[in-house]
Amino acid sequence: MRHTKVKDLLNSTTTLQEINAKGWVRTFRNNQFIALNDGSTINNIQCVVDFENTPDETLKRITTGAAVSVTGTLAESKGAGQKYEIQVTKLEILGDSDAEKFPMQPKKHSLEFLRENAHLRVRTNAFGAIMRVRSVLSYAVHSYFQQKGFVYVNTPIITGADAEGAGEMFQVTSLPLDNLPKNEEGNIDYKKDFFGKHTNLTVSGQLEGETFAMALGQIYTFGPTFRAENSNTSRHLAEFWMIEPEVAFNDLNDNMDLAEDFIRYVIKYVIEKCTDDLKFLEGRLLEEEKSKPQAERSEMALLEKLNFVLENNFKRVSYTEAIDILRDSTPNKKKKFQYIINEWGADLQSEHERYLVEKHFKSPVILFDYPANIKAFYMRLNEDGKTVRAMDILFPGIGEIVGGSQREERFDVLAEKMKALGIDEEELWWYLDTRRFGSAVHSGFGLGFERLVLFVTGMTNIRDVIAFPRTPQNAEF
Ligand code: 4AD
Ligand code: MG
Repeated sequence: MRHTKVKDLLNSTTTLQEINAKGWVRTFRNNQFIALNDGSTINNIQCVVDFENTPDETLKRITTGAAVSVTGTLAESKGAGQKYEIQVTKLEILGDSDAEKFPMQPKKHSLEFLRENAHLRVRTNAFGAIMRVRSVLSYAVHSYFQQKGFVYVNTPIITGADAEGAGEMFQVTSLPLDNLPKNEEGNIDYKKDFFGKHTNLTVSGQLEGETFAMALGQIYTFGPTFRAENSNTSRHLAEFWMIEPEVAFNDLNDNMDLAEDFIRYVIKYVIEKCTDDLKFLEGRLLEEEKSKPQAERSEMALLEKLNFVLENNFKRVSYTEAIDILRDSTPNKKKKFQYIINEWGADLQSEHERYLVEKHFKSPVILFDYPANIKAFYMRLNEDGKTVRAMDILFPGIGEIVGGSQREERFDVLAEKMKALGIDEEELWWYLDTRRFGSAVHSGFGLGFERLVLFVTGMTNIRDVIAFPRTPQNAEF
């Protein structure tokens, strides 16, 4: 018999004869009640075992973590807490679980412990919920752009270009590391490498994406990106997923409008589709907040926070205004910031971003028109000659969730900027071609997918919203 998903059984509108369910035992109480979960929903289904007619040998094998198949009827439950339960007539142990050794005991585990067991943590309520929400969110991303007629582009993962110019890349090579070929100058001879040149894992699909936008009009990428930045924080991964739309003829304001509309759409989508999971995550967060000192507690519950984003426009503030606010702020005057803001031109640290969002504006903020020298080479220079048409979207509890800009479409200005920064024109000849042949105003942004999942799930460490996190000194699984 084909098994029915627990979710469908729980949503049934009638009792049912002869059904089969398969899943994993969460708990087994009183030698009679199995809480069965199959991952289709956060909710378990109660299975009532006919213990009088089940051999002791079998009953002993119903342990936390075991895989079982239950056949029986879907009946109205006599117990409180659920509408339906399965009255089991036939029980089969599919896979035993050593109850004593099984790491996911039915009790509260620390997030650190769960990270060490990332292959099993997905069997807990919290991680099941997070991963279902993540999946629905990625579907919503495609749904948004496809509805609007954007073309999905798969940009290369192996590339010779450093899009962000930050030099934080993982090298890709098939050269023998213990016996590197050298050229006449005594340097490594990359002509002998697999691609005949120096290559790395991409930090962003933007540059290739721009070439497509200059033909297809509106495109987006959604793929893995890699950064070898040695920042062991709760917001950084070495391997993360990024969504990068790029739109011909959009200026910076259009870019901001698109980003806001997009973020609202995916959040609304997930609120509608993941009711049970979000309710569970909201409860989890409330519990966690209770253990924090009053001053650090979030003022809003999870769903309230998500709805706030839907209902309120993001505050649009120029970098220059932001610097004035920060300079006059209490933590700056009292030297509470680790990095004191003294003058225009300072790079903003996450403490400053969070002050603006959480304390000053109490709303998501879009900062724009940053100093040119703290931003990437491809951003459109403003008439003032010192700021660029950049925008960062800052979220409460997260900091930067989106980074984007209007691009420098003028060949001469771009070429000069690259020269000043020592970026080899010959390496990026193809990128410059977009400015040689039919250049036009265009804009785009990158949204860090895990940072979005963090915000939506109310989790606080980015390692907890990706299946198998990659961080400095950690590539297990
Ligand atoms: O601000 P970033 O570096 O911008 C770009 O890569 C541009 N090429 C995007 C574009 O205009 N098409 O990165 C974009 C976003 C950040 O705002 C952040 O959300 C996320 O990517 N991000 C990270 N997420 C997790 N771990 C990291 N190490 C991240 N670095 C950036
Ligand atoms: Mg950025």
